[in-house]
Amino acid sequence: MSGPPGDLVARLRALPGMSLLLPALDGLAPAHLVGGAVRDLLRGERSVDLDLCTEHDAHELAGALAERLGGTDRRHERFATATVSARDLEIDVARTRRERYPRPGALPEVEPAPLAEDLGRRDFTVNAMALGLSGEELGRLRDPLGGSEDLSAARIRVLHERSFLDDPTRLLRAVRYEVRLGARMDAETERLVREAVNARALDTVSGPRVRDELLDLLAEAEVPDAVARLDELGLDRALHPALEADASLAAGAALAALETGADRVLAVLAALVSRSPEQLRPWIDRLGLRAAVRDRVMRAARSGPALTEALAVERSPSQLHELLRGEPAEALALALALGAPAPPVLRYVADLREVRLEVTGAELIDAGVPPSPALGRALEETLRRKLDGEVSGHEEELRLALELAGGAQR
Ligand code: CTP
Repeated sequence: MSGPPGDLVARLRALPGMSLLLPALDGLAPAHLVGGAVRDLLRGERSVDLDLCTEHDAHELAGALAERLGGTDRRHERFATATVSARDLEIDVARTRRERYPRPGALPEVEPAPLAEDLGRRDFTVNAMALGLSGEELGRLRDPLGGSEDLSAARIRVLHERSFLDDPTRLLRAVRYEVRLGARMDAETERLVREAVNARALDTVSGPRVRDELLDLLAEAEVPDAVARLDELGLDRALHPALEADASLAAGAALAALETGADRVLAVLAALVSRSPEQLRPWIDRLGLRAAVRDRVMRAARSGPALTEALAVERSPSQLHELLRGEPAEALALALALGAPAPPVLRYVADLREVRLEVTGAELIDAGVPPSPALGRALEETLRRKLDGEVSGHEEELRLALELAGGAQR
């Protein structure tokens, strides 16, 4: 084996945290950096995630590292892994392993194995490289599967025929790496994608595992390209027959998310769901999103199209406020993506959304108005007039609200 290329060692040393980590590893069981961090290092980018592996006891290594770095370690029994947290570093440590999938789509059963086998169990060649972190191995690249060549050729390639059947989340990962790395699957990998789609491989994966990969995919900067690939490969229909990956709608939603303050990922997800929200409701439920997030997505998917129509009619500021106030920002983004006129939406976002009364209900009560629905209505009406520019300032609001509340009582 040739010696480590100097610039790899230099790049390794320049990674955040390495000035602490490399000396801390000195004299401990040999460890390698693996997965995405190595891929990103070769591309001249810095990964935030540091994944380490060792052919020895990972819990022991993590414990020793935590002690030397003055941090803590958490052990996870299932895959013999551990996480070390120290200062602002978070390092995952795993024992090199082989995997066996008890059934397609299930989490694998694992047992210790040498590094080369650990690399061979991974998703794509570009993620199947390791970089030595100590002793003679420092800065030495282990790349038995041709990952660096594929990286240079911008090629996403699986390591074996069953990869997508064993772990169908890799179908979404393949698209993510295509768009992230500006890469393309090789013909054989794409054939295997289509085969796994036809075999309905994604049906074997739990909702939360699909969710994690899907949200990561939709978080990519080039999300329209990702959505276009979902469509081309039939992955949208494989996720659910009613899911329609429309790249231009996704692009519109992603752009409009910026203008409306919406969460970009959720706006794009709402766009995907918006063609058939009722049919897709059970699928969204299965993803196991937090309830508040799920409700935002569903509300946006349902409201977006209706708002597009409603916004075509000209409205006063208070009417606009009334129409949009209960809607999540993702609904506004989707409405814009669907062709709603921009001026009223942007006006609402910039000038109306945050408008609040200065006068409070408590002040009205202090002034002798009894608590009642009439008081609430008086405040609502005061807000309406404020939005339309008929009152401004605390004093005017108070006077109007008292008048309205008094009138309502009589
Ligand atoms: N991996 C895999 N199959 C999966 C998930 C992960 O083989 N379904 C392997 C890959 O080698 C991957 C590594 O585990 O590089 C770590 O997974 P993850 O953290 O999801 O990917 P990274 O490449 O580290 O991170 P990212 O893609 O976000 O840069």
